[in-house]
Amino acid sequence: MDNKIRSAVFPVAGRGTRFLPATKASPKEMLPIVDKPLIQYAVEEAIDAGATKLIFVTGSSKRAIEDHFDADPELEQALRKSGKDELLKSIQDIVPDGVSCIYIRQGEPLGLGHAVLCARVAVGDEPFFVHLADDLIAGDPPCLTQMADEYARHGGSVIAVETVPKEETSSYGIVAVDDSNRITEIVEKPAPAKAPSNSAVVGRYLLAPEIFDKLETTGRGAGGEIQLTDAIADLLHESPVYAYSFSGERFDCGSKLGYLKATIAYGLDHDEIGEALREHLRELLRD
Ligand code: UTP
Repeated sequence: MDNKIRSAVFPVAGRGTRFLPATKASPKEMLPIVDKPLIQYAVEEAIDAGATKLIFVTGSSKRAIEDHFDADPELEQALRKSGKDELLKSIQDIVPDGVSCIYIRQGEPLGLGHAVLCARVAVGDEPFFVHLADDLIAGDPPCLTQMADEYARHGGSVIAVETVPKEETSSYGIVAVDDSNRITEIVEKPAPAKAPSNSAVVGRYLLAPEIFDKLETTGRGAGGEIQLTDAIADLLHESPVYAYSFSGERFDCGSKLGYLKATIAYGLDHDEIGEALREHLRELLRD
């Protein structure tokens, strides 16, 4: 079998409570960074890494995501008529030919682990990506591509990690690794005194399909949710799971401050508005 990862799973069924009221009727994955919603950055990253099957695990109030990736003939016609060719291209090229979208409903938000398990029927018996769209990573090459390259070197499962301040371990899954970066321990949201390191799991995973059997038997863990971390803790005794320190900058767009930092960073980098935004920020911060 080749090393290509065909499926990417996007769990988008969380409630996004940290962003209420903005996320009351619209999913947090549709929050825009400059002119594209978070979920579009996610999809572009997965396609860059070779994925051709995009699997969205959705919940209530997530119709906007399906609409976003669907064709909109009326809007296309209107843009064509008014000669707005660039805008027309920007809405036509969202999902390229040869890439398919699958939507699976997670009946109840029972946790990230449960959301991933819901995708089992669509993924099948192959390794797959899991991408959390609210962790936006500016990387070159993009983070999932770096992880696919890492996987090609040694197989197994690969999980993206980042060093966080010790006092923040209780917000993340935390790992301990051996000399070859193989994970020996993974704990969900440990208090700083109990954390095995300050190496934190971020929202990118490349998982072997054996994870599904583990998820079937994973009970409720931290916060009463079925945790992906707990299933990985089970998996790593049988099959190698590697921690991968990606190169790039991560923005936690599930938090207000992280979201604003991303908006500014991507805005400053934007061809059309970058210069004007830089000038505006200079003026704003003067004195
Ligand atoms: P979060 O822990 O960020 O939770 O979920 P959340 O509900 O999205 O946001 P807050 O904390 O209430 O503000 C991590 C990822 O797992 C998905 C979320 O959509 C997010 O991408 N998720 C979480 C599910 O798909 N289903 C769940 O039952 C829980």
